[in-house]
Order: sequence, then C-alpha cells, then structure tokens
Amino acid sequence: MYFEGKSQITDEEIKAALDFCTKQVLHYLPEFTYEYQNAYSVDNFYKPIKNVDWTNGFWTGEIWLSYEHTGDERLKDAAFIQIDDYLKRIEERVHVDHHDMGFLYSPSCVAGYKLAGNETGKKAALLAADNLMSRFHEVGEFIQAWGPMDSENEYRLIIDCLLNLPLLYWATNETGDNKYKDIADRHIHTALSNLIREDKSTWHTFFFNKETGAPDHGATQQGYRDGSAWARGQAWGVYGIALAYRYTKREEYIGIFKDVLGYFLSHLPSDLVPFWDFEFTDGADQPRDSSSAVIACCGMLEMAKYLPKAEADEYIAVARKILKSVYDNYAVRSHEESNGLVLHATYSNRSPYNRCNHYGVDECNSWGDYFYMEALTRLIKDWQLYW
Ligand code: GLY
Repeated sequence: MYFEGKSQITDEEIKAALDFCTKQVLHYLPEFTYEYQNAYSVDNFYKPIKNVDWTNGFWTGEIWLSYEHTGDERLKDAAFIQIDDYLKRIEERVHVDHHDMGFLYSPSCVAGYKLAGNETGKKAALLAADNLMSRFHEVGEFIQAWGPMDSENEYRLIIDCLLNLPLLYWATNETGDNKYKDIADRHIHTALSNLIREDKSTWHTFFFNKETGAPDHGATQQGYRDGSAWARGQAWGVYGIALAYRYTKREEYIGIFKDVLGYFLSHLPSDLVPFWDFEFTDGADQPRDSSSAVIACCGMLEMAKYLPKAEADEYIAVARKILKSVYDNYAVRSHEESNGLVLHATYSNRSPYNRCNHYGVDECNSWGDYFYMEALTRLIKDWQLYW
C-alpha cells in the first residue's frame, strides 16, 4: 500500500474544488437543461443526450450538489425541469427495462423531493421503485440487471445493483410498505453471498439457474477477464456494502465491507487511482478509471459514520489522500479543457476476454463527475444522502 507519507486534501482545497465544480456546472447548464450530459465524453467533452440512458441521473445529481453548495436558484429551476422529464420517462417507459432505477431516480428525483419538496420527484421515484421491484426473481432471490425477464442468458445480478437499492429503502420509508425493503434485503443477501471471491475481489456479474435458483457462475461484462477484479465493480462493492449496512444494520456487512475495501486499497497503484482493472498496476500501458477512486471514497466516508472513531478517522484520512491525488492530477481546471469535472475515467474497455463495447476509455464519465462532487461534499458538511 502506498498511503504512508501521502498528503490529504485540505478543507481549502475541497472548497476550491467544489467552487470550480459548481462554476463548471453553471457554465454548461444552458446547454444541459433540456438535454443531459452523455454517459462519457469524447476528447473530454460531453455531447448532449435525451433522457434515455442509465446515467442521466448523475448530471441532475451534479446540479443538486451544486445547488447545495451555492443556493443558486438557476440550478434548482433546471433540476425541476429535469424532474418533469424523469416522470415522463417512467410513465412512458422510455428505456426503463433494466435495474438502474436507483442510479437514475435517486440523485435526481429523490434529491429534488428531499431538498426542495418536489412532489413530482416523489411520484416519479416511487414509480421507478415499483419498476425495480418488478425485476425481482423469487427463484434465486435477486433483481435481474438487464434484458428480458424470461431470458436464460440474462438470469443474473450484477454488483453495481447495490447502488440501486437505496431507492427501495426510501420507498418503504415514504409509503410505510415493507415490501420494498424486504426485496432489497433479500437481493443484498443473495448478492453478498455470491459475488465475493476467496481473495475478496468481486465478480462483476453472477448467474443463477433459472429453474432452481441455484448459484451458477460468475462472469465479467466490463472487466478485463472473468476472474480479474474490474476496478469499478470493486468500487461499487465498497460503496454498495456501506449503503447495505446503512439500511440493514447487519453486523456481518461491516466485515464484508472491510474485506472488499481491503482488496481495493491494497491493489491501488502509487498515485492511488486505479487502472480500469486490478489486473494492471504501475507501469502498465492501460487506462485508469478515476471514477472508481471517487466511488470508493464515498463508500469509506459513509462507513466511517458507523465505526469506532479510530477506524473512522483512518478511513477518512485514506479518502482524503485519494481525493488529493484526484484533485491534483485528474480534476478538470477550466471550462476550455473539458465540460466535465474529472479526467481519465474508463466506461467500457474492450479486452481480448470480455464482450463489451469499446467507448468512454480515458475520458470523463458522468458518475465519476457526480461521485467526485459527492465525496467532496461529504467532507465539508453533514451531507444528507440522495441514496
Ligand atoms: N453500472 C455500469 C458501469 O459502472 O459502467
């Protein structure tokens, strides 16, 4: 591990970073009010897209985090416009036949409801929660990630889904109906029983037998190879398990969190920002995934709330060291350099052993930008989660 002697991001640097992020969001807001930033940039610039991808919520989330930082009403107005669009999307079922309802509706609509009492946001997010519920399989006890529900080839969960589940806990809280929370609890149990390997690295996706529900096999979609540790999958695990603990308070999840985080931290390269897959480290001619670094920071900062002070302080210090590296070496510095916030992330990198499409490699991506802002915000205030 390389944490010894590394400096931490200071409160002044955090403030300066957030000041720039919110200036950047405000600068590009006119272009991205009725449209959204794409999932990934091309030559560090995002193109506008309609509300059609699993990633739109991150841009709206950046708007809400900027609103929290500045109180600028232009941001709230834009987010309200987008919330109407999210309601339309779920009512008209535009590209919602997948599990990413939390990524879409938590940082946009739940945030708008929590921060500004937006009732349309509440309505849209509850519909999204119902949609997520409809993807639960009793046989196997998990929420199916992608594809038609009767497809044998898609009878699997993925580690990323842990971030979709807070929407269900929120729905139980709002409606008083435990059905949402119960499904989330059961999915987490299945996911954590199968996704974590002996060395504490994680499978990206895990298949079940469609007839019996028995665990079948792990596989990657976006990692280098089936048995490698895709950096973002491990990061989704870190943050997702912290959130699982937040909502279930199951003691055993603390140990699982430490295991999965331990693997992540002990495989970082010297600048503390992972390559896109832990197959690679210092000296590799491979792209980084800066988004994994900031996602893991959010997970550490969340879990620090529930741990004894000495351990909590250690996690906060580690998060500050990683964020210092991101701030110094990866953060965008001007409107002209990029319309995003964090450079050198990787969305989907083709390898000889995976079957994913090749795009968003060594670019900004919208969740990297969002979780960078979230991690910074967590360090300067008692941030109330959108998740
Ligand atoms: N959830 C998809 C990804 O992390 O790329």
